[in-house]
Amino acid sequence: MAFPVVRVAELERFVGSPVTIQGWLLHHRSSGRIDFLVIRDGSGEVQVVVRGEALELLNSETWRGAGQESALAVTGLVRRDSRSPLGVELEATQIRLIQAARDYPISPKEHGVDFLLDHRHLWIRSPRQAAVLRLRAAVMRAIRDFLDRNGFVEADPPILTPAAAEGTTTLFDVDYFGEHAYLSQSGQLYMEALAMALGRVYAFGPTFRAEKSKTRRHLTEFWMVEPEIAFCDFEQNLGWQEELIAAVVAEVRERCRRELTILGRDLAALERVRTPFPRISYDEALARLKAAGMELAWGEDLGAPHEAALALQFDRPVFLHRFPAAIKAFYMQPDPARPEVVLAADLLAPEGYGEIAGGSERIHDYELLEQRMREHQLDPAAYGWYLDLRRWGSVPHSGFGIGIERLVAWIGGLEHVRETIPFPRMLNRARP
Ligand code: 4AD
Ligand code: MG
Repeated sequence: MAFPVVRVAELERFVGSPVTIQGWLLHHRSSGRIDFLVIRDGSGEVQVVVRGEALELLNSETWRGAGQESALAVTGLVRRDSRSPLGVELEATQIRLIQAARDYPISPKEHGVDFLLDHRHLWIRSPRQAAVLRLRAAVMRAIRDFLDRNGFVEADPPILTPAAAEGTTTLFDVDYFGEHAYLSQSGQLYMEALAMALGRVYAFGPTFRAEKSKTRRHLTEFWMVEPEIAFCDFEQNLGWQEELIAAVVAEVRERCRRELTILGRDLAALERVRTPFPRISYDEALARLKAAGMELAWGEDLGAPHEAALALQFDRPVFLHRFPAAIKAFYMQPDPARPEVVLAADLLAPEGYGEIAGGSERIHDYELLEQRMREHQLDPAAYGWYLDLRRWGSVPHSGFGIGIERLVAWIGGLEHVRETIPFPRMLNRARP
């Protein structure tokens, strides 16, 4: 007789019935007449109790040495079990060995991070890493849900691009049939063109920066969501960002309880993430930093320690706005009341996570944009199409970019962004 094949996460619906699950062996404990297996199948983990006839396979020659990560199919009766996090366990009636795995390199003991990263293709199977990847997927879905229900159209900018969007020092150069092309650092410039076509748009994809930074927040390949909005000023842009972040945190708290618990996340910290988020200007930030013994001269850029010190003064994300124009990108709109600063903001996450989003109102005036390009040593001829946007129907518009890995690291309470992407690319690592 064939029993329904179900996933571990669905077992609770089958209490009292025989079912089959398929998965991998996480743990095997033997105590003579009764064995306990923990099986994971990607949706969750369940304890399997094996005794009587069902034990035959486990005592046979076929099984000998089958260890962690052996692939199995187990048929059995689903029983309530109040001690298990899942609320159920399986009493095995039949076990089928699909592949016997021996000497799995990642044991429950501690491994160094380089060893784990070298084995990333296997490390992702560990319950903690799998929880992070489910969290990442949930965060991405919540972002799309929010933007889609607010009338944004997802539109994909190119990845091979002819010119820099975020400074010329971090470009990955690609030989494009004898010409130079660069991997996209940001889809923003193209999103501005798309916003003039569709009103509200967003890009969601990988971006690349040849950044020689070895920190817990830097990857050379990372994912960004980049909304761009026509007829949107600086203040409205901040409004979109805080609504989006608050909605994503609320949804993920709801949908990812189990993952956040596995990660040991302090849920109270996430509950405080409510709008409005505080806003402090660059000038105010300098005053706060001075008071904290971290003095910076006006015009200097903030480093990670400065960001962390500021963010620690708040219990929710905080906008840092109106930076000196000279330390920011060429396309940012100067503040009409004070042209030496730009209408740009970074969003700093609490608990020391630092910048998770950057955004600005864009220059919509042709002459000013061209002048800024020159000041930034960029050749306006290389940006002809981008300048065109200021010739036909140019309107005030704004947008922002959120780094997915940094957002997931903060929401999940993770130490380093390298765990938030399936296969991290960093300064000294492009494998596996
Ligand atoms: O602040 P950034 O450089 O802004 C832009 O690229 C804008 N063009 C976005 C826009 O307005 N459409 O990058 C945006 C975010 C940062 O706040 C950070 O979260 C993330 O991207 N980010 C990185 N994440 C991981 N590794 C890196 N090397 C990152 N560089 C930026
Ligand atoms: Mg930035």
